[in-house]
Amino acid sequence: MAALVLFGGGGDLAMRMLLPSLYFLEHDRLLPDDLKIIGAARSEETPAEYIAKVRASVEAKARADQAWDEAAWARMEARLDYLAVDATSAESLRPLRDKVGQGSVTSFLAVSPSLYARIVTAMRAAGLAEPEDRVVLEKPVGRDLETFLAIDDAVADAFSEQQVFRIDHYLGKETVQNLIALRFGNTIFEPLWNNLSIDHVQITIGETVGVGDRWPYYDEYGALRDMLQNHMLQLLCLVAMEPPSDLDPDSVRNEKVKVLRSLRPITPEDAERVTVRGQYAAGTSGGKPVASYDEERGLDSDTETFVAIRADIDNWRWAGVPFFMRTGKRLPEKRTEIVIQFKPVPHSIFDRDDRGEVQANRMIIELQPEEDISLTVMNKRPGLDQRMQLQPIKMSLSWGVGGKGDAPPRRRIAYERLLLDALNGDSTLFVRRDEAEKAWEWVDGVSQAWADAGTKPHDYVAGTWGPEAADYLLDRTGRAWNTTD
Ligand code: BG6
Repeated sequence: MAALVLFGGGGDLAMRMLLPSLYFLEHDRLLPDDLKIIGAARSEETPAEYIAKVRASVEAKARADQAWDEAAWARMEARLDYLAVDATSAESLRPLRDKVGQGSVTSFLAVSPSLYARIVTAMRAAGLAEPEDRVVLEKPVGRDLETFLAIDDAVADAFSEQQVFRIDHYLGKETVQNLIALRFGNTIFEPLWNNLSIDHVQITIGETVGVGDRWPYYDEYGALRDMLQNHMLQLLCLVAMEPPSDLDPDSVRNEKVKVLRSLRPITPEDAERVTVRGQYAAGTSGGKPVASYDEERGLDSDTETFVAIRADIDNWRWAGVPFFMRTGKRLPEKRTEIVIQFKPVPHSIFDRDDRGEVQANRMIIELQPEEDISLTVMNKRPGLDQRMQLQPIKMSLSWGVGGKGDAPPRRRIAYERLLLDALNGDSTLFVRRDEAEKAWEWVDGVSQAWADAGTKPHDYVAGTWGPEAADYLLDRTGRAWNTTD
């Protein structure tokens, strides 16, 4: 028998994401037959009480997706169990080992990262870190390089690197994997994927939500550590990496680390020019008035809820191609996209009159709200005009839209892919220790530059695309952020 143990099994992540993901995998009969799923948390409740809570959460999510099936739930229910534990105590964890017998255990730590070191130490003593066992760690592992290393050293004392699965849920998103397919499953893009043809890259992760009652965590981290250190740098790596020799976990991750090593460090002298910090002031969201971050927090805080950065990758492929990244809370749209902006034609044969200007090609890799990859190309406007009229046409390159053939498959939760991979021991879509280390090193440089330069967040009105300084970041280089209208 194999077991998946969800530490923090009654918490928000488990109830909102992990257990619904497991249900969908069960629904599609993708879970190993003999897998047990055990919730483990402090609360003293019976397995029946726990399972009732799981059902309520899973059913609501599955019904919303029109994928509720009593038979699938019955199969999942038969796998579920619960054990009240203090995960930091080896003694308290021993019954868990007894429960799963000799089979392999995958432990998912969906708890506060401040507990990781103590939990893995207890797991080791309780026999839950045997060579066939695995551990899955949610971000954020640490708050900077030093705290990351302290936690990760404790993890390394209990588990070998092959047994450790550091999650970045963005890597489980369908379009992120589609980006890999697009880049390396086609010949036509690779010759263009460099500084000869690409002018710049933009990565935007916009969220409409505020920080709300997550502030005790968020105030210590801010947008730089919460989003940029992990999700955004991972997306940047996948766009910028060299073709790996195969899809073996280490082949892919070796290439990603090389990108992180090539990121130009940001110095205090550069901070003003290439970075922007912002914090939302009161404004509106979805047409309703919303409070400022400081009001939610209850006192004045210097934590950024928005960050925009120009990153430069110092290697042959990307020399001179800026990567602009921005992310923030309380922006006008929930929107995640990567924009590959190609260079303009070297010489236009079309007059710049009312015929429409020749726009440079642009590829948009959209992760949210839609999952799509599109390419904008110039076309002739149909008709008998004597002088040729041009217009940009957006071509979809993915299954997400188009309406031809089969309906697109159900949109999966990113954790479905990642849970399945962790259970199968495939770490391609997980973050290796040296990747996390390099990402922290670069991000520490940014926060140090802010500290040295005394960079404070600019206010931005909730419901806008961040401080004006974020527009200047591109404007001063003659560029602009992509807009959806
Ligand atoms: C998490 C961050 O990692 O990602 C949150 O901690 C953020 O602050 C979330 O809201 C965004 O994820 P997604 O998949 O909704 O874009």
